[in-house]
Amino acid sequence: MSKRPLLISPSILSADFSKLGDEVKAVDQAGADWIHIDVMDGHFVPNITFGAPVMASIRKSSPKLFDVHLMIAPADPYLHQFANAGADLITVHAEAGPHLDRSLQAIKALGKKAGVALNPSTPISAIEHVIDKLDLILVMTVNPGFGGQSFIAAMLNKIRQAKALVAGRNIDIEVDGGITPETAHSVVLAGANVLVAGSAIFKGTDYAANIKALRVGATSISA
Ligand code: DX5
Ligand code: ZN
Repeated sequence: MSKRPLLISPSILSADFSKLGDEVKAVDQAGADWIHIDVMDGHFVPNITFGAPVMASIRKSSPKLFDVHLMIAPADPYLHQFANAGADLITVHAEAGPHLDRSLQAIKALGKKAGVALNPSTPISAIEHVIDKLDLILVMTVNPGFGGQSFIAAMLNKIRQAKALVAGRNIDIEVDGGITPETAHSVVLAGANVLVAGSAIFKGTDYAANIKALRVGATSISA
């Protein structure tokens, strides 16, 4: 299992958008480690969410790391906007542009941490030659675009491959999609240490209990 700290990154895609700032504050106070921000363009994925101005407006609601998941193509023309809006970590999809290495260099040049997201059908080999530019690998455990989808169990093997590729480097392995206390157990066992969860955290009103349930699920690993 991963020796890196377990981090919970609530996806605000499942928050109540009519009071987004309060929702961010609420998950921060409920014990979130990071805040996961899903940006969708209706082109790379079949859904549209929000852009940098909305993100800037919630920046003051939490000092925690803003984990920005760009599901947009191209991503390069917008990287500076998200950096200026307060992103701490910017993740692009491997297919977001023709020059992934250049995109990662651009994120680093903006002074931000860089991640690459892999769709369920994208092989781990897509990042083999950029591994030393990465702070995070995001293994999508659903097809990106919507919250509330079912976890794709075949991704467990990809998480194990990511862990092997990381080989002790200072790189987080994040999973996103269908994460519940039950699936949290298996993804952490496979090597993930950052858990994104939308519907599992924003359901009901007790966000602290929901986050705690994820931590308990993730760490209840038989030796
Ligand atoms: C999906 C997004 C996820 C989504 C996860 O495209 O990247 O972050 O919000 O939602 P749940 O946890 O409900 O599967
Ligand atoms: Zn996401």
